[in-house]
Order: sequence, then C-alpha cells, then structure tokens
Amino acid sequence: MEGNREWARNVPLIGISCTKLNFSLNGKPNKFALHDTGLAMGGLLAQATFMGIRVHQMGGYYPEKAKEFLKIPYEYETVAMFVMGYQGEADQLPAELKDRELMERVRKPLDEILARGSFKF
Ligand SMILES: Cc1cc2nc3c(=O)[nH]c(=O)nc-3n(C[C@H](O)[C@H](O)[C@H](O)COP(=O)(O)O)c2cc1C
Repeated sequence: MEGNREWARNVPLIGISCTKLNFSLNGKPNKFALHDTGLAMGGLLAQATFMGIRVHQMGGYYPEKAKEFLKIPYEYETVAMFVMGYQGEADQLPAELKDRELMERVRKPLDEILARGSFKF
C-alpha cells in the first residue's frame, strides 16, 4: 500500500508469507496455521538478524492483488509481506519515516503482557 512503498523501493528482496488454513491431509481446518506462519517468520527474523540482514514486515498490502500477481493457489492465504536487505542510511528515507526509524524502540513492560493464574486486562 501507498504508505509502505518507501520501505520497498530499494530492497533486493520482497517476500510474502503464505499459509494453508486447512490441512492438506484431510482438508480439516488447522487452527494453528497462523500461529505456525508467525513462528516461521520469527525464525526467519532471528536468522536474518544473526546474519546482519534487516527484515521489515508489512500488513499494509493488497492480498487479492498479491495473490493474482504471484499466482498463489486459492487454498493458500497470504499473511504478511516483508522486505529484506542490508541496513541503509536513515537519510535515504522521507522525513516522516526517518523520524520513525530513528525513534527509540519502546516495548511494553512484561507485567502488562503476562498474567499469572488468570487472564488480566
Ligand atoms: C505483522 C506485522 C505487520 C506490520 N505491518 C506494517 C506495515 O504495514 N507498515 C509498517 O511500516 N510497519 C509494519 N509493521 C511494523 C514493522 O514491521 C516493524 O516491526 C516496526 O517498524 C518496528 O521496527 P523494528 O523492527 O526495526 O524495531 C508490521 C509488523 C508486523 C509484525
């Protein structure tokens, strides 16, 4: 989508993760399909980072256009797009993305996302 074009302009590789929501074996729903796809992406991210390669994941794309362009069979769902490459200079980015790129990464404290005993809002 428009807002993501800058991330993809100069990259050597654009990818898209795909999954089958039903098992090939018996056609029944695989409720872990999206979990497994995210896990595979996590593995890809860890390995890429280990090799000094940056990955930027993007949910902002047009799934139907991607399926058509890449001739992805109907039984597969596209999940997220990603671009991979070696880190460029933040100066290459438009001002808004440059600010975002240079911003300090903030993570939620663990006690906000982990609960012991029962679910906590
Ligand atoms: C599934 C998923 C979808 C995302 N979609 C977008 C997106 O469409 N556009 C975008 O700029 N960032 C998106 N992000 C965030 C970036 O990939 C990235 O995680 C974020 O900019 C933080 O950067 P860092 O990994 O360098 O800390 C998405 C992240 C995930 C996990």
